[in-house]
Formats: sequence, structure tokens, C-alpha cells
Amino acid sequence: MRILVTGGAGFIGANFLNLLVPRHPEHQFVNLDALTYAANPRSLDPVASLPNYAFERVDLCDFSALRAVFARHQPEVVVHFAAESHVDRSITGPRAFVRTNFEGTFNLLEACREIWAPGQGIFHHVSTDEVFGSLGETGRFDEETRYDPSSPYSASKAASDHLVRAWHRTFGLPVRVSNCSNNYGPLQFPEKLIPLMILNLLERKPLPVYGQGLNVRDWLYVEDHCEAIWAIIGAGQNGRTYNIGGRSEQRNIDVVKQLCRLVAEETGAAEPELLGLIGYVPDRPGHDLRYAIDSSRIEAELGWKPRESFASGLRKTVRWYLANRAWIDSVRTGEYRRWIEQNYGSR
Ligand code: NAD
Ligand code: DAU
Repeated sequence: MRILVTGGAGFIGANFLNLLVPRHPEHQFVNLDALTYAANPRSLDPVASLPNYAFERVDLCDFSALRAVFARHQPEVVVHFAAESHVDRSITGPRAFVRTNFEGTFNLLEACREIWAPGQGIFHHVSTDEVFGSLGETGRFDEETRYDPSSPYSASKAASDHLVRAWHRTFGLPVRVSNCSNNYGPLQFPEKLIPLMILNLLERKPLPVYGQGLNVRDWLYVEDHCEAIWAIIGAGQNGRTYNIGGRSEQRNIDVVKQLCRLVAEETGAAEPELLGLIGYVPDRPGHDLRYAIDSSRIEAELGWKPRESFASGLRKTVRWYLANRAWIDSVRTGEYRRWIEQNYGSR
């Protein structure tokens, strides 16, 4: 198969390619990515020179460049990861989110429609559980949960999900949608909770916990997410949605405390000193209280379930950041430092 992956230089896309390109020499993979601040070409070192891998630097909002890539590579499967993905950035600068997540998805759907005969191809849209808004203390999101997004990020992803389903209903495009919970693991840009806290711990910087740290996220190790997407591409149904979650609900403050313990164990630092870095800062506006996913559909229909426990996945993640200082240095550009100053300077 000829498989076009968008956003493959970002966190989940790079993990997906690093897992699948070597495993499937019979498939050709093309990575289409604009290389925004969130991308790191170094993340693709394990596959960059493999014969079944190619890279195209293209912005999804540049429709003529996108068409040229489609004409050149004639993809049979599209896996759409590319997005602006960070909720806090969507609050300080929502325009890029509407542009990439909505207009970019629209362009991609149209590019598929141009080259695929009716019923041909697979368009896999990678989306988020944030489209469902917030849960209270109980309950879980399933595929029938009503959309109720809270942030500009989740609203733009919800809008993109609607486009994808409309292209299926109206034009018969063979789409599949997955809505996944919070991912963590290697190669995640250190603006997100877990890598930000690990790096701050290593540098003995304050650990900024929003509000009281009581918000709950359902954490999934990134490779488990990639395997779920691959299972849907292989055996999912067109027009169908699959929720993907880690069965691992954690309060933010508990995640941060676990990271203090792990970094202490892995580096020989004193745990009480690390715990002393925890600081409570003003909350994120519109902060959803709790996410939890009911993955029973993908488990029953496709036999997928998460393999990594949160305890072992978190330790692997800490070890990865400890062992990959060159990767960290390469993402810590001036732009990253400006973001840290802008987001945390006034909290
Ligand atoms: P990321 O921010 O790490 O990477 C996004 C990638 O998209 C980057 O490589 C970037 O260069 C690329 N990109 C951005 N705008 C582009 C454009 N206009 N044209 C082409 N490429 C562009 O994101 P991630 O965390 O890897 O998330 C990937 C996808 O998974 C997103 O669609 C996100 O909504 C979804 N998702 C993420 C999580 C999570 O916890 N990270 C959970 C569920 C769903
Ligand atoms: O649920 C899936 C979503 O998970 C994805 O769609 C998003 O792309 C991804 O960024 C993630 O969104 P979150 O907002 O949940 O992730 P983030 O890592 O930004 O925050 C996780 C929790 O930690 C959230 O409740 C906010 C809190 N937080 C975050 C940061 C960056 C803090 O308390 N302090 C921080 O400094």
C-alpha cells in the first residue's frame, strides 16, 4: 500500500512511522509535514534512510502543493495526524488552530476526493477525546457521546471531525475516525504536561500545576495509540468511529508526584527536594475537569487493548528523556523559550 501520513514529524506521527515503516517494508510511507515549531526531523532518524520512507515538506493549507504531492505519490491510505495540538497555545493564539485543523483537513479531504474513485482509499482521521468536553466525577465517553468542546483547540478538532464525517455521508469518502485520550511517551514536545515536568525536574525549575491539580486525564502510552490506529486501518469499517483510551485515569497532581519519585529514583536526586518544586499556578481558562474513555468498541471489534501500564510507561518515558539530551536541545529553540516565558511568566 502507498500510505501518506500527515504530521509525521510531530509526537504521535513520528512514533507511528518509527514503529511501522521498519515493520512493513512492503508498504511505502510518505510523511507530509510543514515542520512547525512542534516538529522535529530528528525524531525520524530511525526511518529517514529506509527505502520505503519519503518526506515532503508541505503546509496542508497550500492546496496546490498538496495536490502535487498527491499526484506524485498516489496514496491509497491517508493517516491524518497533522494539527495544532496544544490547548494553551489555542487560548493565546486560536487562528493557527482554525487554519490547520479546519482548513487543512478540508484541503486534505478534497485532495483525496480528487484522486480516489468512489469507495476507493482509506482516510483515517486522528482526533481527540477533548471534542466531548468535560465529564463530572463519573462516566466515560463512548462513540455516541454528544460533542461539547471547551477550548479553541477542541472546537477546531470537533469541526474537523464533522467535515470528515460529512465527506463520508455526502461524497462516500471511505473515512474512519478515532478519538483518543492523552498520549505520553518518547518524542513529545516539552510544552505538554509530562515532558514539561520531566525537563523542569531535571533542571530544578518550578513545576507549574494548574488550579489545584485535581483535573483527571486518561493516559495512553503513545505506541498503544499507534497500534490502535494501525488496527483500524487494517480491519476497521468505513464511516465508523473508534474511541481509544488507556484505562488509566490520573489526577494531574498525582502524575506530577509520580514523576518526582521516578526522576529521584532514576537520577539519585532527593525526592523531597523535587516535591518541593511543585507550585500551584492560575488555572487554564475553560479547563475540562475530567476525561475518561470507554474503548469497548475497538476492544470488542478489533481485539485492541492497551499493553503498557501507566507505571511502566511513565518510567520508560523518564528514561527516554534522560537518555536523549541531544533531542531535547534540538527542540529548545528560541521559539520554545519564548513560549515558556509567555505561558508561565504571568502565572
Ligand atoms: P504535535 O503537535 O506533536 O505534531 C503535529 C505535527 O503536525 C507537527 O509535526 C507539525 O509540524 C504538523 N503540522 C502542523 N500544522 C501543519 C500544517 N498546516 N501542515 C502540515 N503539517 C502541519 O501533535 P501530536 O501530539 O503528535 O498530535 C497528532 C494528532 O493527534 C493531532 O491531530 C492531535 O489532535 C491528535 N491527538 C493528540 C493527542 C495527544 O495527547 N498528543 C491525543 C489525542 C489526539
Ligand atoms: O485528551 C487528548 C488531548 O490531550 C489531545 O487532544 C491534545 O492534543 C493534548 O495536548 C492533550 O491535551 P491536554 O490539555 O489534556 O494536555 P496537556 O499536557 O496540555 O495538559 C494535561 C493536563 O495537565 C491538563 O489538565 C492541564 C494540566 N497542566 C498542563 C500543563 C502544560 C498543568 O497543570 N500544568 C502545565 O504546565
